[in-house]
Amino acid sequence: MGTISEQKPHAVMVPYPAQGHVNPMMKLAKLLYSKGFHITFVNSEFNHKRLLRSRGPHALDGLPDFRYETIPDGLPPSDADATQHVPSLCYSTNATCLDPFLKLLGRLQTSASAGHVPPVTCVVSDGTMTFSLKAADVLGIPGVLLWTASACGFVGYAQYRYLVDQGLVPLKDESCVTNGFLETKVDWIPGIDNLRLRDIPSFIRTTDPDDIMLNFFIGQVEAAHKATMIIINTFEGFDQSSLQYLSSIYSPPIFTVGPFSLLLQQIPHNHSLMSSIGSNLWKEDTHCLQWLDSQEPSSVFYVNYGSITTMTSDELAEFAWGLAASKCRFLWVVRPDLVEGGSVIFSKEFKEETKGRGLIVSWCSQEQVLNHPAVGGFLTHCGWNSTIESVRAGKPVVCWPFFAEQQTNCRYACVEWGIGMEVGPVVEREEVRRVVVEVMEGSSEKGKEMKEKALEWKRKAEAATRPGGSSYQNLEKVLDMLLKNFN
Ligand code: UDX
Repeated sequence: MGTISEQKPHAVMVPYPAQGHVNPMMKLAKLLYSKGFHITFVNSEFNHKRLLRSRGPHALDGLPDFRYETIPDGLPPSDADATQHVPSLCYSTNATCLDPFLKLLGRLQTSASAGHVPPVTCVVSDGTMTFSLKAADVLGIPGVLLWTASACGFVGYAQYRYLVDQGLVPLKDESCVTNGFLETKVDWIPGIDNLRLRDIPSFIRTTDPDDIMLNFFIGQVEAAHKATMIIINTFEGFDQSSLQYLSSIYSPPIFTVGPFSLLLQQIPHNHSLMSSIGSNLWKEDTHCLQWLDSQEPSSVFYVNYGSITTMTSDELAEFAWGLAASKCRFLWVVRPDLVEGGSVIFSKEFKEETKGRGLIVSWCSQEQVLNHPAVGGFLTHCGWNSTIESVRAGKPVVCWPFFAEQQTNCRYACVEWGIGMEVGPVVEREEVRRVVVEVMEGSSEKGKEMKEKALEWKRKAEAATRPGGSSYQNLEKVLDMLLKNFN
């Protein structure tokens, strides 16, 4: 083994195998790599194949000291190019991944003994892949959790056990979703007073005590107590009451090191590293960036629902006609698997109505789009990555939360951070038209305030990630802890 590798700490990084989790784990991997770590990035076999398809056959060859490995996700093998069923994936990773992961760690240790890689010094696992913490324990090395969702979402999941104990969840019957029960105030969390049951991550909306997602998250937030530390992709001051609450219930230290993308900009020579390592599971359309280049500043409304959201063809039509009626220019990302049980079809009338001012693509480089000066607003499903990426770009949001903690993020975006307004949950074209116009033209007080707030948070995020800023310093603290026993 070369002396450089011998001296390196070695982080084995285990994302939950979905786009919204692989992306932030990849960014954290790049940050650690840039600080001198040898990285083993562990994809599921399913995603590994997708990455090879979307990024080309050599995309995962890796760099010296940045290597890829795979483990099976426990689901039947498939070559599909679509998002996997979330409850099945949560169930199978939790039930089946520990064994192959331990075997992988064993192989890495053998490889280290032979001098091919440095010995593994820590495991960095997604907050929903906590089986990895058990493996870290077996090796006697630190087990770091990366909570890839929001701090407020984490607070929401941390209420699940209490809600079950109080008999509020599972719901008595289906009607609880519509009869006003979800408007019940959540008034027992110290320092947090603006939440209702409907803002708690959506997996409480079940009548089944054995619901996979409900029980999965109860298990994951409990397992987080065993982590050496918890990292969250946010910044101090942004979601402070949630962070304070989490620090009061968790003994592992919690470090905010976000927005990751801004921190990555602080790394010298990050450019070549950034471009050679990517994590998009779908092939990116690049034409849309050229199209944006030809548009006026803040003139384009951007619509994207992330990697998991699905909708009915009627909902798609309401969005389409709302966008058309707004008369705004728009860039709309419509994944091939967006519409439940069918293909995506736009009518001739819609295409004619929006000709020359609307561009529809199936996947884009979202961060480049959001940071493009032509983009003036963003309709999002409020996935945490989309939310924090929008904050980083200083763009106001229209929120249409789909599931998980997106409901919580929506509430915070609209009420606490002042950067968003909600549509739905029932999508109606006239409402879509109204909010798009409000955000793009700043035609109301609320519209103007949102734009200002978005820019204000952007400046604060930039300050947090500059040398001396909280996220910048927190990354140093993370490194100090990880390197404490490393010589
Ligand atoms: C979700 C959410 O993070 C979270 O609410 C939930 O817990 C489970 O996972 P997802 O729905 O995909 O993930 O949304 P989001 O968190 O926004 O992540 C999507 C990622 O894909 C973002 O990093 C975004 O930049 C990227 N993306 C999305 C693209 O690069 N291009 C696209 O066209 C769409």
